[in-house]
Amino acid sequence: MADKKPFYITTPIYYPSGRLHIGSSYTTLFCDAMARYKRLTGHEVFFLTGLDEHGQKIEQKAEENGITPQEYVDSMAVDVKKLWKHLEINYDHFIRTTDKQHVEVVQKTFERLLAQGDIYLGEYQGWYSVSDEEYFTETQLMEVYKDDQGNVIGGKAPSGHEVELVTEECYFFRMGKYADRLIEHYAAHPEFIQPESRKTEMLNNFIIPGLEDLALTRTTFKWGIEVPSNPKHVVYVWIDALMNYLSALGYSTDNDANFQKFWPASVQVIGKEIVRFHTIYWPIILMALDLPLPEKIYAHGWIVMKDGKMSKSKGNVVYPEMLVERYGLDALRYYLLRSMPFGNDSVFTPEDFVARVNYDLANDLGNLLNRTVAMINKYCDGFVPKYASHVTEFDSGLSTTAANVIGNYRKAMENMEVSVALQEIWSLVSRANKYIDETEPWVLAKDEERRAELNSVMVHLAESLRIVGVLLQPMLTQTPGKIFKQLGIDQVEFNMESIRFGEFPNDCKVISKGTPIFPRQDAEEEIAYIQEKMNEKAPANSVVWNPEETTLVSSKEKPAKFEDFEKVELKVAEIIDCQKVEGADKLLQFRLDAGDEGHRQILSGIAEFYPDPSELVGKKVAIVANLKPRKIRGLISQGMILSAEYDGKLKMIEVPKSIPNGSELA
Ligand code: MSP
Repeated sequence: MADKKPFYITTPIYYPSGRLHIGSSYTTLFCDAMARYKRLTGHEVFFLTGLDEHGQKIEQKAEENGITPQEYVDSMAVDVKKLWKHLEINYDHFIRTTDKQHVEVVQKTFERLLAQGDIYLGEYQGWYSVSDEEYFTETQLMEVYKDDQGNVIGGKAPSGHEVELVTEECYFFRMGKYADRLIEHYAAHPEFIQPESRKTEMLNNFIIPGLEDLALTRTTFKWGIEVPSNPKHVVYVWIDALMNYLSALGYSTDNDANFQKFWPASVQVIGKEIVRFHTIYWPIILMALDLPLPEKIYAHGWIVMKDGKMSKSKGNVVYPEMLVERYGLDALRYYLLRSMPFGNDSVFTPEDFVARVNYDLANDLGNLLNRTVAMINKYCDGFVPKYASHVTEFDSGLSTTAANVIGNYRKAMENMEVSVALQEIWSLVSRANKYIDETEPWVLAKDEERRAELNSVMVHLAESLRIVGVLLQPMLTQTPGKIFKQLGIDQVEFNMESIRFGEFPNDCKVISKGTPIFPRQDAEEEIAYIQEKMNEKAPANSVVWNPEETTLVSSKEKPAKFEDFEKVELKVAEIIDCQKVEGADKLLQFRLDAGDEGHRQILSGIAEFYPDPSELVGKKVAIVANLKPRKIRGLISQGMILSAEYDGKLKMIEVPKSIPNGSELA
């Protein structure tokens, strides 16, 4: 291990602003696969993830929930960690930007950059979107509102959120000073930004036109890290957030052993929308601190839906827990890692998800394992024969494919092309399935003289599956173990440094009856199931429920004003007597005690739902008590009984008997 380079991999730190969906989970899952791969190839790994807990949005969320920002982020941290545990994300450290160590590192760094002259105090005016926590120039706005004189008085950010004009005293970072060095770095390290197309975008859109100074602080909100020398300023999201990658390692603290060992980062994984921050601002901050830059910034694409971005309001959000519960963790891990092409977006559809589970997992891999275990039981009393190379004419074809797959897989994983690595594994799975058809073990089994060939086929299949299991270890957390167990291999994990075809352990006895590792799903049913779940409202998170995001359903066109409601007097009334009105099928005649001097009479059209009116006597209901009396079928009705309407039925709202008659409902 000592001669291998320590591997430091980071995810962005997440905003704890709501539940994480399959898209947001992707970054972390991808890093988990890479971290596992590096561990299994003998590297010492530090895998960092965490939460970006400051900012106005968080302050507002907390206020909406009636709790302090700290209470809010504490509860979100519990939820996010729970999700990562559920997805078996094996991180080494979970940083929170409210951690004391992080706060101190940010403050110290800020003061140092100020003293150095990289940071200066100025004034900022711009169009600010609270939801995006970002300033926009007028030209960046998606829509602008103008007054009669044509002055811009407001508008919408590209995200669709409203913006407001804000002028603030603000600290700025002199970005331009480092532009040339950054361009040189890009040129000298072609692998720095992956995929490379992102680099061109950064150069053409931001660096070459001239870097603007970056606003670093705010005075309009409090929930952030204070600037020690000017505490009315809090450090605004980016410098606070970016510094997490260093503070988590103990940079500039008394305990910086991890920093010494792991910095510069081997790879920092991000989504495509935060490339600018990580490939321009972050490297420049590091240059100002005289620190080496990360080796690689890797930007992946997005998981989107057919109708664009996942969003609660569109009702197209897919939560990972639902898929895990129904199809198992590895089905989700496989799907996400397999579907996302290098650097591009991937579209989630229920059809595609179910197809991958059925074809790739249940059919191709699951059946190969099932058939292999069944044949070894049938033809070899369950014992995997000893490996010998090249007995049948097809053996070398299979072992050559395996060797190629191992090589290509390695190359793909080193390039962080996890999806390609999975495709490689499946090419071995397909080759092994084809090998069964070519060698026809059932024919060999009929001829005792061909025993050696049969044995060779069996061990070649078992060995192919072992290799598949070994190569799957970074991506799938449960399947490799299940494959090894079904093949009778004791080992639960294989180091991947020197993996070779032909090293199947001796004396393994397969299990007597293999169970399918991925049950085949009824496609139609499951597509409908996922679709239905996508349309469901998100289950409320412990505290994170934003009432403003709830669509209120009303059958009335106009909302009632509070004053309208106040006019209505609702009371508790006890049913003293109830009977049908002769000649009127629908009407019931009620005598009620609503705390008045005498009893009152109400007629209600609910007879068909209460065939035996006498049973209602003694129940307490809610009535509208101040309706103007009116006559129905010649009988006076002095109010209205409240009923709930559902499934075409009407049922009276019952009130607990302990509430005195005449109590007002408010
Ligand atoms: N807090 C910032 C990052 C600061 S890092 C110094 C942030 N947080 S985030 O919560 O909005 O995003 C976290 C990660 O989730 C990002 O990598 C983002 O790209 C990823 N994703 C969020 N939705 C996504 C998809 N639909 N698909 C794939 N990844 C997406 O940005």
